[in-house]
Amino acid sequence: MASTDIVDHEPDTGDFRQGLIDGLSRDPKDIPAKFLYDERGSELFEQICETDDYYPTRTEIGIMETCLERVSELIGPRARIVEFGAGSGRKTRMFLKALESPAAYLPIEISKAALRGCAERMQTAFPDLEITPICADYTEPVELPAPPSSVGRTVGYYPGSTLGNFEPDEAASFLRRIHDLCGDNGGLFIGIDLVKDRDTLEAAYDDSAGVTEAFTMNILDRANREADADFDRDAFRFEAQWQPEHQRVQLRLVSREAQTVHVGDTPFEFEAGERIVTEHSYKFRLDQFAELARDTGFSPVENWTDDDELFSLWYLET
Ligand code: AVI
Repeated sequence: MASTDIVDHEPDTGDFRQGLIDGLSRDPKDIPAKFLYDERGSELFEQICETDDYYPTRTEIGIMETCLERVSELIGPRARIVEFGAGSGRKTRMFLKALESPAAYLPIEISKAALRGCAERMQTAFPDLEITPICADYTEPVELPAPPSSVGRTVGYYPGSTLGNFEPDEAASFLRRIHDLCGDNGGLFIGIDLVKDRDTLEAAYDDSAGVTEAFTMNILDRANREADADFDRDAFRFEAQWQPEHQRVQLRLVSREAQTVHVGDTPFEFEAGERIVTEHSYKFRLDQFAELARDTGFSPVENWTDDDELFSLWYLET
């Protein structure tokens, strides 16, 4: 299949204006994190990954350099790799390159533009690899095409600790769905960020270059542009707080003053100091993630960490 032949499940990309109104009507107010990733937001997220303070990306890549040979041995030949999200970057290329004669690569991504870009870049990097881009919301049930009999295992790939952006009950149902999707004899190669000291975590999510702040503030510009809102950027400040009782970093915009913001005709009152939660990034202990994997039907086979135990990679079997 040519890389542009997208299997289109026509996902519901979400009505931003309605999502914004629903989120701002909750207590505490929130804006669903998926709305952070418009074109500008996605560019800024790539830049976050390059900052000195955001340790997950470079740490995960460092662990991959040491574990991929073993991961490839565990996965075996002719695997079909299903990536949740459009991987176009270095990590996906490293992973596919390490595998023995991979049979196919199936990225699942809600944004058709991001999916097309990913498929084209991966086809250039791996001209002989069969690529089946699937346009779908991977947080909802998705069906995969039936694998030809020549295919080895179906292995999910979910790097970056993106699992930590789900609330705990959603993370468990997502893992259960991946388990079923990968079928008998399947696997999952997943990156999981670990609990660590407050300073490291808060610096990673409020980097000194101000990129995470710009990434989060961008949602207000998007709301003004696309949802007829009248947010004043200067009337909010950005904060990232480690909340050890929940094992999560909370990213939020805090109203500097009492104010009224409109989305179209709908007014939203803010008290001084009131927050809009934009993201949670949950962190795990190794034993907790092993338990979550088992509870969702997987058998943890092996895991790898860096020397400082900042981040972990896991190979699980179904
Ligand atoms: C995509 N995800 C894994 C990032 C994280 O680390 O939770 C999102 C992020 N938001 C701000 N910085 C990083």
